[in-house]
Amino acid sequence: MTQHVFPVPSALASTAHVDRQAYQDLYQRSIDDPEAFWREQARILDWVKPFTRVKNTRYSPEDVTIEWFADGTLNASFNCLDRHARDRGDEAAILWEGDTPGETRKVTWTDLQRQVSRLANALARLGVKKGDFVSVYLPVVPEAIAAMLACARIGAVHSVVFSGFSAEALAGRIEDCRSRVLITADEGLRAGKHVPLKKNADAALQNLPFVEHVLVVRRTGRDVPMVAGRDRWYDEALAEVPEECAPVAVGAEDPLFVLYTSGSTGKPKGMLHTTGGYLVHAATSFRAMFDYHPGDIHFCTADVGWVTAHTYLIYGPLANGATIVLFEGVPTWPDSSRWWQIVETYKVNIFYTAPTAIRSLMRDGEGPVRRHDLSSLRVLGSVGEPINPEAWLWYHEVVGGGRCPIVDTYWQTETGAALLCPLPGAMDLKPGSATKPFFGVRPALLGSDATVVEGEGAGNLCFADSWPGQARTILGDRERFLKTYFSTFPGYYFTGDGARRDADGYYWITGRLDDVINVSGHRLGTVEVESALASHPSVAEAAVVGMPHEIKGQGIFAFVTLKEGIAENDDLRRDLIQVVRTRIGPIATPDRIEWASQLPKNRSGKILRRILARIAAGDYENHGDTSTVADPTVVAEIVRRVQVST
Ligand code: PRX
Repeated sequence: MTQHVFPVPSALASTAHVDRQAYQDLYQRSIDDPEAFWREQARILDWVKPFTRVKNTRYSPEDVTIEWFADGTLNASFNCLDRHARDRGDEAAILWEGDTPGETRKVTWTDLQRQVSRLANALARLGVKKGDFVSVYLPVVPEAIAAMLACARIGAVHSVVFSGFSAEALAGRIEDCRSRVLITADEGLRAGKHVPLKKNADAALQNLPFVEHVLVVRRTGRDVPMVAGRDRWYDEALAEVPEECAPVAVGAEDPLFVLYTSGSTGKPKGMLHTTGGYLVHAATSFRAMFDYHPGDIHFCTADVGWVTAHTYLIYGPLANGATIVLFEGVPTWPDSSRWWQIVETYKVNIFYTAPTAIRSLMRDGEGPVRRHDLSSLRVLGSVGEPINPEAWLWYHEVVGGGRCPIVDTYWQTETGAALLCPLPGAMDLKPGSATKPFFGVRPALLGSDATVVEGEGAGNLCFADSWPGQARTILGDRERFLKTYFSTFPGYYFTGDGARRDADGYYWITGRLDDVINVSGHRLGTVEVESALASHPSVAEAAVVGMPHEIKGQGIFAFVTLKEGIAENDDLRRDLIQVVRTRIGPIATPDRIEWASQLPKNRSGKILRRILARIAAGDYENHGDTSTVADPTVVAEIVRRVQVST
């Protein structure tokens, strides 16, 4: 694989913020003297009260401490708005493109500052104070960004819930952080279809009496029921408050947001991010890895409900004063040239998306791309899952015209911002590799016996020290935080991913090692899908594993055992799919459901997903160590059934 090396384009080598030598020097300095390094980097923000202490972090088994810039104070919304509105108020902060072609909005820095200030005042009037949680269930509209920044302005903590999640998933996420206020919309629009957001919100709130207020954005204008005393139209609430709101200075370690993500066990985890370190890491990494220069137009395709959008659509770019393209729709509607049309229209310079989207667009060939002038593009990014070399090459050649480096950025909801990523002026690229660590990041590969793998080799991907954007805890469950990330390899943060390091020191992510599957770059816990399936009255038991999927990267394969006397049939299959969609959302829809009269278990009754995953991958013979299977005939029967229906 090492023969496919794409050298730094010469144009970039001379203009980039960080060139080859600078990366080496700065990286070394960031490791040798992280205090001094991050003290300088933190100047990317305006602080109200400068910090005196930079880093107070420990990963020892007795004491995990993660604090950055702890005695400094600042305001994230001031950093993302006011300091740009001051001189460039009439320039665009957001170029919004709606789901329907031709429906656009330009939001200037001043517009956004006013909207955010009004909303902050409206929230304060509803009793929201510093440290309170506010849930946000909105489509990709400027109001979603306003909601996040308005919370930040008054020190409230936002919890954005992906608008593709079901009422039940929303309810769980509101209940966990106990927000008293929800901001939603009448409806969402996606590929021309109406998504009943208010209806879902109403259903979610049925058993959550502590939610006192709901602000409703008019997106489609359709009639939706409003609960008297609880629900208010967003525009009306904003109209009656002043358009100025002084940003509240918060401590660097005060929370900025919580964002839920799936784990290998139990309910989704609320990853809690704080203000100072997160924003320093988001802003510095955005500038370096996309080689952002003032005036660049940045287009990140992620939905506001995911961490990618939090960090590299919203906080990172806006902290740098970047103009962002915000797109509500999908790349394939009305046809698969939609993104390229947007790139041409807005003269996008930096484009950031997920490999799954590239793979799905590749199916439609080069035509839809070639019809558009993409010469404005300078840097392309990839995130969320390993990018296969075919997709990388297509992205590079067809979309990037062979000119644009592909920055393959490895990170997680927990890491807040990128940990492994090329800096495009500093690193030669190898398709499929997230290349090298970002500044201050100390990757380590550990064997299963916890020995450190040196040089070339593979292992469990860990990090030996903290970085500023790191999540500080799981909301309300520090024990789970410590157990999940710090107990497997004491002294290290464990990502849950496997990785390989090649002879040049490049990292290659090999995928999740736990019971988490990555469907189209979105994380799902197998247990979540299993519990949804098991909630159906006909189901005795279910086991869910990932399976290779050409477009999604991984698909969802469910093995289901029905209760005594229930007949296997296709209607039931459809019902089961519906149950999952209702309990979680369409992203968790199983790709394949197979019936199994029993599931393979070990002698203590634990389901052996490892064996099922091999079968799901089409490997019918090689099941690894089967000595633990209590009844080997169970495996043989499942193999037979899967083979018959494949
Ligand atoms: O398995 C890794 C994969 O996505 C996981 C994190 O998912 P999430 O928290 O939803 O955040 C996604 C967006 C940051 C990781 O544990 N992953 C993410 N980026 C990459 C990746 N795998 C390979 N290459 C990447 N660039």
